[in-house]
Amino acid sequence: MEFLNRRKPIAGVVPEGDHGLARSLSGLDLTLLGIGAIIGAGIFVLTGIAAATKAGPALSLSFVVGALACAFAALVYAEFASTVPVAGSAYPYTYVTLGEFPAWIIGWDLILEYALACAVVAIGWSGYFVSLLGGFGIHLPDALTRPPSDGGIINLPAFAVMLLISGLLAVGVRQASLANMLIVVLKLAVIGLFLYAAVPHVEPVRWQPFMPFGWSGVMAGAGLIFFAYIGFDAVSTAAEEARNPQRDMPVGIIASLAVCTLIYIAVTVVLTGIAPYASLNVSDPMAFALQQVGERFAAGAVAVGAVAGLTSVLLVMMYGQTRVFYAMSRDGLLPAMFSEVHPRFRTPARTTMATGLAIALAAGLLPIAEVAALVNVGTLAAFILVSVAVLYLRRAEPDLHRPFRTPFLPWTPILAILACAYLIASLEAVTLWRFVAWMAIGMVVYFGYAHRHSRVGRGG
Ligand code: ALA
Repeated sequence: MEFLNRRKPIAGVVPEGDHGLARSLSGLDLTLLGIGAIIGAGIFVLTGIAAATKAGPALSLSFVVGALACAFAALVYAEFASTVPVAGSAYPYTYVTLGEFPAWIIGWDLILEYALACAVVAIGWSGYFVSLLGGFGIHLPDALTRPPSDGGIINLPAFAVMLLISGLLAVGVRQASLANMLIVVLKLAVIGLFLYAAVPHVEPVRWQPFMPFGWSGVMAGAGLIFFAYIGFDAVSTAAEEARNPQRDMPVGIIASLAVCTLIYIAVTVVLTGIAPYASLNVSDPMAFALQQVGERFAAGAVAVGAVAGLTSVLLVMMYGQTRVFYAMSRDGLLPAMFSEVHPRFRTPARTTMATGLAIALAAGLLPIAEVAALVNVGTLAAFILVSVAVLYLRRAEPDLHRPFRTPFLPWTPILAILACAYLIASLEAVTLWRFVAWMAIGMVVYFGYAHRHSRVGRGG
């Protein structure tokens, strides 16, 4: 039971010297990084599936539910992110507060979250890319655009884009974050264009019946489109590369979440106002709906923007993934190769390419909604653990310097826990079982490897 007492001191978590990652990101960079991560397959793709099969026009309420859960969680996250500004998101926070074992659980959970989230976004990217090619009269065979469970062989565009993104990240975060910034602007512009082109076609009668699947449908919808909010926590994975983490992390997290929530509600209301909700179960719903009302130019532009926008989400998600690996490996919980920094690029280049290949295979072979649900359960579980950690830390280390303090303690973390648990309960049982299986594998790896190699465990 000795492992339950392993804990990192909070001072000394931030690495000394210049061997770590370069500190190059400002508050605005972080907000853009956040928006880059947040707006993606959730709004561009899952909205259609969720409206058609789960919630109907009341999907806008699902977005409100999701936003509430995230807002509570974001306030909790921001306190941690400003207090423990190191790479790897919730994982290092947990290590210094609850200890190594809970940190392992959350790190293992985050690996699932980021890796599979990349796969979901790559699949969503492929949907718009294929639709874009179709606009130019190029039609790829179904066998190469669908996973085996959907009658294909491999989703080749999803596989390829994942490898490409990994390559970009491997050669350096600076280039990637500059590209990310340009793409975020483009992404916001095409969403603006969608609203502008679609609003004149809204027919309020389409919002009737508003709740065809009842309240349980709204919650099931929330369980799925929760994916659309994932990513604000990715901002906190970049803490070690922020110029002034104390000030910039809370700004980056909360500003990006607020902007995205407003956009989602607007898009959902308009989308279900221009097309019958039941028709939206397609791989490119925003472009599809615009086509239905004759806005062909806007439809094409939205498809281009979606392809670009989803690319930026991939950059940030994949970045988060490699940095969680980096942090866990630096602590000895994963093999040292995961924290090898390339001498010239100053990124974990090799790990980035290796994990990129694994994720590319998942993107090529798995169906989008099931993978998204699994990502959601992993993320919600992580939010619950972080909320527990903030409550605990306030009692265990009351005098700790906290540049940003979660307001209304203990209510904010408690509400975060309740909201996340409610969303988990609205997911399908099979998703929960898959999650349990992943965590069980994590236990085997912990006791088989991490426990013995841990730096803290070896007194390092
Ligand atoms: N929130 C991100 C998306 O919707 C992960 O793609």
